[in-house]
Amino acid sequence: MTREIKVWDPLVRIFHWSLVAAFFIAYFTEDDFLSLHAWAGYTVGGLILFRLIWGFIGTRHARFSDFVRPPGVAIAYLKDELAGRARRYIGHNPAGGAMVIALLVSLALTVVTGLVTYGSEECAGPLSVWLCNAPEWLAEAGEEIHEFFANFTLFLIVLHVAGVIWSSLLHRENLVAAMWHGRKRMEDE
Ligand code: HEM
Repeated sequence: MTREIKVWDPLVRIFHWSLVAAFFIAYFTEDDFLSLHAWAGYTVGGLILFRLIWGFIGTRHARFSDFVRPPGVAIAYLKDELAGRARRYIGHNPAGGAMVIALLVSLALTVVTGLVTYGSEECAGPLSVWLCNAPEWLAEAGEEIHEFFANFTLFLIVLHVAGVIWSSLLHRENLVAAMWHGRKRMEDE
């Protein structure tokens, strides 16, 4: 019988799937439903703040110290993974860990530039107190950079999901299901 181990705690799982929902709601509501777009963006921002804290005080595999490795280690792992000879990790592997950081940074930049755009262009949101009468160039720059990071995040998500599928096939395990119920098989850690 395959023995299983709890890897992802409930907060990591709720964080992950809420983030997926909030990101896509925000992504597809940018033009027509501005207030829904803003609330989805606040949700993404709140989730990122939570994850930053949880990365320091959370359960074993949720901590940054468990999966953040130097870039050289992440690149070497990625090469091994593509060559089909990478070892299996119970938590995030070094390449997956690098992607987690890239996603969090790109999402945070998307949220911050969204707040700048909302405050300066619409006179709304928490930054409106300072940005309501900001010069037009600031609103325009904010919007451009916001759009860039939203699309860059989408690009990272495509790579992230491709990595998850590739790694699942290589190690014969369903990583998507593991992010849902939290368990993984125990052998060969
Ligand atoms: C529906 C598509 C998605 C699937 C199937 C998926 C699947 C997964 C899986 C399986 C993991 C764990 C990887 C591992 O075992 O090391 C993971 C982690 C993660 N994913 Fe996704 N993901 C999806 C979409 C997204 C999106 C849209 C975002 C960002 C907006 C995202 C952000 C993250 C983050 C930040 C982590 C790290 C979780 C943590 O440690 O808290 N994912 N994802």
